[in-house]
Amino acid sequence: MSGPADRGKAARIRDMFATIVPRYDVVNTLMTLGLDRRWRRITVAMAEPAGAIALDIATGTGELAFELERAGAAAVVGVDFCYEMVAAAVKKSVTADFARRIVFATGDAMALPFPDATFDCIVNGFMLRNVADLAATFTELHRVLKPGGRLVCLDLTRPRGPLRRFFDLYIATFVPLLGIVVGRKYGAYRYLFQSLTIHPDADTLARMMREAGFAEAGYRLTGFGTVAIHLGRKSAADQRLRSTG
Ligand SMILES: C[S@@+](CC[C@H](N)C(=O)[O-])C[C@H]1O[C@@H](n2cnc3c(N)ncnc32)[C@H](O)[C@@H]1O
Repeated sequence: MSGPADRGKAARIRDMFATIVPRYDVVNTLMTLGLDRRWRRITVAMAEPAGAIALDIATGTGELAFELERAGAAAVVGVDFCYEMVAAAVKKSVTADFARRIVFATGDAMALPFPDATFDCIVNGFMLRNVADLAATFTELHRVLKPGGRLVCLDLTRPRGPLRRFFDLYIATFVPLLGIVVGRKYGAYRYLFQSLTIHPDADTLARMMREAGFAEAGYRLTGFGTVAIHLGRKSAADQRLRSTG
């Protein structure tokens, strides 16, 4: 469960994201050298969304939700606890000539307003470092997945080997600079480095997913080992366990 300290962190994170909404997309694209779109496409493909009821949790400005729809999801829900982010996603969706099957709403990843076993697949991008209680988040996402459902999490990870020093330098110096010049904010982009230094490594995240109940959990690395995309599958047997329990 998340305690008062975690609620303090959650409020700080929400306020911070509210301040960077107007330039979030452009800074993201520059910071990832334009690779974010490719990473989102891989993430969505791993979730197997064709015909699915899909959730993009921590949707931000909605990019993964849009990708889910393009990939053939039957219905998409995009949820974020930052109202300003959700408003930006809604604005983008009404000017897009697609996004007919997407609903955006505010909500917290640790206490979702959905019944058990609602979604066939769930994706999230760059969320894991930001939630106040990662274990509680995985447990909650597992709850709202249908048996056999897929959870796919895209996030940065510190690479192993010699690239780590270059990566740390890039995140600690270039990204905050970009934050000042393009995003017109410093603290939020300095926070990226701080969040990465305390973020569990990819193996630990996979273990946490298994501890939250996922029958299978693993990951693939991309972006020269700077990005981890985790896939967890809820056991198809979960339904039987509940109905006989
Ligand atoms: C770095 S942004 C990522 C946005 C988007 N997923 C993307 O791929 O660009 C992280 C988002 O996580 C949201 N967030 C953090 N903790 C959350 C929580 N507990 N519940 C819902 N959203 C959360 C923030 O409001 C923010 O919009």
